[in-house]
Amino acid sequence: MTLSKLAEALPIRPAETAHVHRLMRLMVHLGVFALQKNEHGKEGYVLTPSSELLLNESRMSLSPFLLMLLDPVLESQWHFFKGDMFESFPMADAVFLKSEVAMESNKGGRDAHEFFQAQAHIWYHIFNLASSMSLKCAVELGIPDVIHNHGRPMKLLELTDALPVSPAKIAHVNRLMRLLVHTGFFALQKNEDGEEGYALTPSSRLLLNESRMSLSPFILMFLDPVLESQYHFLSRWFQGEAASVMETATGLGVWEFMAQNPETSNRFNRAMACDSKIIMEILVNECSGFFKGVRSVVDVGGGTGETAMTIGRAFPHIKCTVLDLPHVVATVPKTSTDIDFVGGDMFESIPKVDAVFLKWILHDWSDEDCVRILRRCKEAIPSKEEGGKVIIVEMVVDTAQADPKSTEVQLCIDVLLMVNIGGKERDEQEWRKIFMDAGFNQYKITPVLGLRSVIELYP
Ligand SMILES: C[S@@+](CC[C@H](N)C(=O)[O-])C[C@H]1O[C@@H](n2cnc3c(N)ncnc32)[C@H](O)[C@@H]1O
Repeated sequence: MTLSKLAEALPIRPAETAHVHRLMRLMVHLGVFALQKNEHGKEGYVLTPSSELLLNESRMSLSPFLLMLLDPVLESQWHFFKGDMFESFPMADAVFLKSEVAMESNKGGRDAHEFFQAQAHIWYHIFNLASSMSLKCAVELGIPDVIHNHGRPMKLLELTDALPVSPAKIAHVNRLMRLLVHTGFFALQKNEDGEEGYALTPSSRLLLNESRMSLSPFILMFLDPVLESQYHFLSRWFQGEAASVMETATGLGVWEFMAQNPETSNRFNRAMACDSKIIMEILVNECSGFFKGVRSVVDVGGGTGETAMTIGRAFPHIKCTVLDLPHVVATVPKTSTDIDFVGGDMFESIPKVDAVFLKWILHDWSDEDCVRILRRCKEAIPSKEEGGKVIIVEMVVDTAQADPKSTEVQLCIDVLLMVNIGGKERDEQEWRKIFMDAGFNQYKITPVLGLRSVIELYP
């Protein structure tokens, strides 16, 4: 079934076809659907053994199971994992889980091996939430720091002694750690007495609260109930008129929501700042050429200034300005450095500089809005000959790349943007169109930041 036929058959507006494409791109990558050529050589979606198990009309359908396990009633329990799982189960009696899947011996002629593989595939994607939420729980309990401060592999009882958990939960901590060891966040190592204990891995070292390079605030924001609960509105959003899922769920656009909810806004700014600390240290130390010849820079949507501070420290001769919405700039302590903070709107005007810096801004917006922002950027900078440029840090989606896990992360973030922000991740062709529509002549993509790239854009 081609994309247009699928969109026609779904209870959605024609305008949502591009979003259906994004959702299906992720589903195809995950093997829930496949792409095949039809008799006219046109590519279309077909079922895989996994999606065959989701057919409503089938007696063997796993859809009710999926809908129950990912229902807000069960799914929201994960946010009590830290407190309630380890102290009590206050909501447990409110939950009645009834699986409608009967494992029958007669599987309608289907080969049992294929059935179990397809079932495991569906289960993997339902229960993967347990993995994300266990990670969040470990951060909330401070497990990485406790193991780090112990200084050697930490036995289970040593760990539970040091954690704020009730003694009745020792076996539960063991189960939590078993999953987190399996997913590579901790490792089991022998201590000097030959006994096994938990040790950090490179991933959990990135979660130490005391480290300047901690990614913990990022986990706490993106798995916070405010953002995470939006996923339950995705199918409703496809059928309605709202511009973003956030709007369907709250009646507000994301930045209006942030302006009215200071606690979430501060958590969001901390998450962005922790990402910027790490990425910008790498950028200024290992890729300083991007700033060659630049005397002034404005970090548009620069949040609380982490990016600008790193640029200013690395290149003291560069005059740095941060432009962000007034409610964000109002939270920045007045003690701050040489950086100018400007509360404003990038759609209205951008201060005049040599280089405009845009980190994780354009992926928040539609193509039309990106063109409007880039036109404002173009007005703010001089010609290429006089040193004008825009420096963009964004993903360039590449579904053909060798590492399928990297593609999966890119496609998941794309759907996250559809849900939480109303933006999108783009491939090179989509970026090029936006750049040309905004009146830029030349761009260069350098994939130096893991899943993200630096794009230099010249007028
Ligand atoms: C995804 S965050 C990126 C923050 C930062 N650049 C980073 O990568 O860490 C987007 C930022 O754009 C800001 N923003 C949203 N709308 C804006 C507007 N109209 N004018 C200026 N900034 C805006 C938000 O407040 C937020 O700080």
